Amino acid sequence: MNPDEVRRQLDAVRADDLPTHGGRTLAYVYDSGLAEADALGREALAAFGGTNGLDPTAFPSLLRMEQDLVGMAADLLDGPPGTVGSVTSGGTESLLLAVQTARDARPDVSRPTLVMPSSAHASFHKAAHYFGVRPVLVDVDPQTGRAVASAMADAIDADTVLVVASAPSYPHGVVDPVTEIATHAQAAGVRCHVDACIGGWLLPFLRRDDPELPAFSFLVPGVTSISVDLHKYGYTPKGVSLLLHRSAQLRRPQLFASAAWPGYTMLNTTTQSTRSGGPIAAAWAITRLIGDDGYLALARQVRDGLTSLVDAVQARPHLRVVGRPSSSLVALASDDAFDIFTVADELLARGWYVQPQLSFGPFPPTLHLSVSAATVPRLPEFLDALDAAVAAAVAAGPTTADPGLAGVLAELDPTTLDDAGFDQLLAMAGLVDGSGTPTLPTRMAPVNATLDVAPPSLREALLLGYLDRISRPVRAADRG
Ligand SMILES: Cc1ncc(COP(=O)(O)O)c(C=O)c1O
Repeated sequence: MNPDEVRRQLDAVRADDLPTHGGRTLAYVYDSGLAEADALGREALAAFGGTNGLDPTAFPSLLRMEQDLVGMAADLLDGPPGTVGSVTSGGTESLLLAVQTARDARPDVSRPTLVMPSSAHASFHKAAHYFGVRPVLVDVDPQTGRAVASAMADAIDADTVLVVASAPSYPHGVVDPVTEIATHAQAAGVRCHVDACIGGWLLPFLRRDDPELPAFSFLVPGVTSISVDLHKYGYTPKGVSLLLHRSAQLRRPQLFASAAWPGYTMLNTTTQSTRSGGPIAAAWAITRLIGDDGYLALARQVRDGLTSLVDAVQARPHLRVVGRPSSSLVALASDDAFDIFTVADELLARGWYVQPQLSFGPFPPTLHLSVSAATVPRLPEFLDALDAAVAAAVAAGPTTADPGLAGVLAELDPTTLDDAGFDQLLAMAGLVDGSGTPTLPTRMAPVNATLDVAPPSLREALLLGYLDRISRPVRAADRG
């Protein structure tokens, strides 16, 4: 193919993607609104995309940039002298490594557990699953959404290898009582990880204006590691998070070497071995360009935007904010006047993406909004769209799960759901085309209404079945 034809195809293939820039996508992407930073990031990404962090002697530039990024984060997060860290591919990899490191630091514990608030990111469940660690979930306060430090303390025992707190939690944007939790962990001689994937590049700036904001950094005694994602509020391209440890000794079990084969000695600080230098270079370039003053200004912009958004929502009938968000994320719930998931579809039809969150424990179904700097100037526009979307949802009436489908689901044991049974469910849900191929739904509300009445284990089974089908290649060989 000639390059122009491929370019046309690249444009065409992304026609249905959410916009990454412009502030109208309120989950998955974070936009500084600084065109110059984006352009510089793209240049660095392209220039270093082919370099490989696998071997620091081959690409010393990447080692240097990694050291700089870790140093910057250690300064921001009050790391004492001796703080070390690594660049990972994202928040999930940082959390996987935090759990693996904590487990491997305690070979004396044969059945390790991880004590975490029920609001902690799902990546911890993934880590627990990968590394044979049992998650011990502690209910959060149903009013505030914050972890309850005394309940966390009660859950710590001789098998606990790691205690977790979030700054803030993803579902409700609230910062856990890190000081109290870390104190309990330290008293028990257990590591404490603060998941600041969202807040780590934002809250330190906001704490300069408001020292009353909860402390969560290495200033808090007992905090042993912190994760912070540059590809969130560092506003860098995807593929960069940092995992910091208070000391090199605490990090030691994270490092891996294998000379047990005839090839090069594999020597890694992270899960990945080959690591593209592109995201690292882009993060290095963008953090330098924006700098401390720039991030302070962006953080203030987000804080002011969030405050005005929360006030505007509270002033509207039938809508409320769940928990007490103290950073950049907010979860909106409806009273029973309309279906909240329909609001998400109606917003999308008006060019705004917000992320549905299913009901869980004491928490109602919500819409998640991650506010980034580029969204803030557009909040009046967003609120107009929200009002119109709510009016449309009221007019549409309640969205309920298809009664036939809901009846089948109520009887279903997720552990016995086989391929044929799943195909039948997909057809009942209208998620297949004429030839039986799964399709992407155009309106999510009916799908979410159905998932919302299912228990979490069934939600997982249903969505895994769907993912399995939509992620298969389209090959002539499979068309028969
Ligand atoms: C608090 C928190 N931790 C971890 C993650 C996982 O990060 P990633 O999606 O980069 O793997 C997220 C993602 O939103 C998050 O909000």
